[in-house]
Amino acid sequence: MTRYNHIVVLTGAGLSAESGLHTFRDKDGIWARYDYREVATPEGYHRNPVQVLNFYNERRKQNAHVKPNAAHDALARLEAEYPGQVLVVTQNIDPLHEMAGSKNLIHMHGEIQKALCVACGRRHAIAHSDLTLETVCPACNEAGYMRPDVVWFGEMPYDMERIYDALGACDLFLSIGTSGTVYPAAGFVLEARSAGAHTVELNLEPSEGISDFHEAIHGRATEVVPAYVERLLSAAHGQVSFGRWA
Ligand code: APR
Repeated sequence: MTRYNHIVVLTGAGLSAESGLHTFRDKDGIWARYDYREVATPEGYHRNPVQVLNFYNERRKQNAHVKPNAAHDALARLEAEYPGQVLVVTQNIDPLHEMAGSKNLIHMHGEIQKALCVACGRRHAIAHSDLTLETVCPACNEAGYMRPDVVWFGEMPYDMERIYDALGACDLFLSIGTSGTVYPAAGFVLEARSAGAHTVELNLEPSEGISDFHEAIHGRATEVVPAYVERLLSAAHGQVSFGRWA
């Protein structure tokens, strides 16, 4: 039986959908109601910072009322119980992975409960507070430079070196709840595959990158993720044989 040593799990908005947070590109998604160029680009922020701050203030309020679901819990359990390394790389800016207990975690697109001061570069935990042009940076005492610590379109995601190192060393790559439309995350499957990893998509429907995966299981995250984690743990603890594509 195969036991994996280095598992990298990429997650997207579909993982948090059943916790009550909208995805981006589904028919009632966030980008169906907002123009991403207005609210999720540096240009949009410079043109109308109040509009951008209010957009994230609204989303931060929504995040305050949601809980991790069975898929978040299953990934935290995998990290805690799997006899190999498990790294979660999330595109999500919500705190649900941490709330479920995941620790080896990278928020490659930032975190909605943090603010970044454009004046001094310091980051601050802001929990559910609103950001306005009057908000003062606790480090440099400047007002009006605090933006959401979120990676906008056209900006470099966080921790890319650590992510590519992990992809280069992983032997199992899971992609969960993401449409595979936004790079560099959409390219991770091929990075992992070229490192020899087995690659699996767990998603409600086939993603844009479906043909890049060895295996795919389609269904709701709260159903397919706990079931897949159970199989991994059983195989790792020698309870069942677990196939691997060469
Ligand atoms: N269970 C599993 N998958 C789901 C569920 C569910 N309950 N609901 C939706 N999905 C799937 C959809 O089928 C879709 O493929 O989740 C995916 C969500 O795709 P997007 O809305 O495009 O979100 P994501 O892939 O995370 O977006 C990537 O784009 O807008 C930017 O920075 C933002 O991080 C985000 C990035």
